[in-house]
Amino acid sequence: MTTLTEAVEKPAHIPDEAVFDFDYHNDPELVANPHKRMRELLDVAPRVFWTPRNGGTWIAIGFEEVFSALRQPEIFSSSIIPREQIEALLALMPDDMPRIPMLKPITIDPPEHGAIRSPLQKAFSPKAAMNQLAEIRSLTDQLIGAVIDQGHCEFISSIAEPLPVTVFLKMMGLPVERLAEFRTLVHEVLIPVFGPYDGPLVLRKVADALADDIAARKDDRRDDILSELWGLEVDGGPMTMDVMEDYAVLLFIAGLDTVINAMGFAVRHLAEHPDLQASLRADPSQIPDAVEEMLRRYSFVVPLRRMAQDAQLGGFGLKAGDRLMLHLAGADLDERKFDRPDEFDITRDLKSHVAFGGGPHRCVGMHLARIELHTLYRQMLSRLPMWRLDPDHPPTYHSGNVIAVDSLNIRWD
Ligand code: HEM
Repeated sequence: MTTLTEAVEKPAHIPDEAVFDFDYHNDPELVANPHKRMRELLDVAPRVFWTPRNGGTWIAIGFEEVFSALRQPEIFSSSIIPREQIEALLALMPDDMPRIPMLKPITIDPPEHGAIRSPLQKAFSPKAAMNQLAEIRSLTDQLIGAVIDQGHCEFISSIAEPLPVTVFLKMMGLPVERLAEFRTLVHEVLIPVFGPYDGPLVLRKVADALADDIAARKDDRRDDILSELWGLEVDGGPMTMDVMEDYAVLLFIAGLDTVINAMGFAVRHLAEHPDLQASLRADPSQIPDAVEEMLRRYSFVVPLRRMAQDAQLGGFGLKAGDRLMLHLAGADLDERKFDRPDEFDITRDLKSHVAFGGGPHRCVGMHLARIELHTLYRQMLSRLPMWRLDPDHPPTYHSGNVIAVDSLNIRWD
């Protein structure tokens, strides 16, 4: 049973009509059935509302409102702590204090953002992602092979989690022997909802786990992302260890949990829809469209913004300094944008969802994510018989900056 976070007092500038009591971490219906709850919310809550839960925050759930915030970084800033505050804090730190990685470029606003994002965009180009295809196929095959004869599996721990973590290690040029260590780290970083979150220290821990390999690649270049990034310029100058560390930590955070959950929601939907499994088995050429529609139907990321200036959104006046969550799951289920949003329909316009965000911070890893997802669908559908949910162990979820699938038990004959 989840407990709601304590409600805080409403600041004077928030009008009563804007208040809607919703805990985006612990709302019991959200945690029980996340996307059903987001659909209901669109019927009962304003498209943009202020909740006294979670420390007091605005939440945008309508497509138009979310999309417009994503595309106006000068108003809806990704720099959650203003730069002057960060600099003042750093000035107070003792000199021997370990450096805390900055999540770059995701916390940097334009115009600086473009120059910092550019090396990552090169390293994760569509071509670079395609080059991983054979490796991703072979890993997926091994993981499915390990469970196929048992007739059942807990999908998240058996396949959805080891797959992107192993792809990440191999792509980055990190030793795959450290898989177990990295999987433990993934849990520490990504499941803060279950315990107190000592954010910056955990970021340092990830950076420490990666630091030796990052440094080693500077002079010993190989065919991997770390080596490639060392060879690129950043912001008009040579790459630095600090920026490399920032990239590596962000990639770890942004590139693992996301793919795990996209796989979890997809495999659950397919388990509940044998007709869709049959249709994709009969015609695998539909898989890319199915992947795209699944990303819309079950979007799960909740990006965070800080108001850089006073502005209107959804009919309310937000004030400089206010916090705003952009609930992409709500946006992609908004019937003002998507006709019959609950229906899985690969004939709709598949390009207009915001599962990967929008505007300057649109996901850098989306080509890689799509290839991982296409491969998973293809291999699961071609190798496993029709799978279904295990009625004795229903799926479990948690919510926060992503809506996550914690466990998903499936069976087949
Ligand atoms: C299905 C899987 C994925 C989903 C749904 C997803 C979603 C997103 C979203 C919504 C954003 C925008 C956040 C914002 O506006 O604040 C984002 C940014 C980002 N993603 Fe992904 N992501 C996925 C996979 C990946 C992978 C595999 C990688 C890396 C290998 C990755 C790396 C990044 C990075 C570096 C950014 C920051 C881009 C910037 O700030 O310019 N993502 N992602």
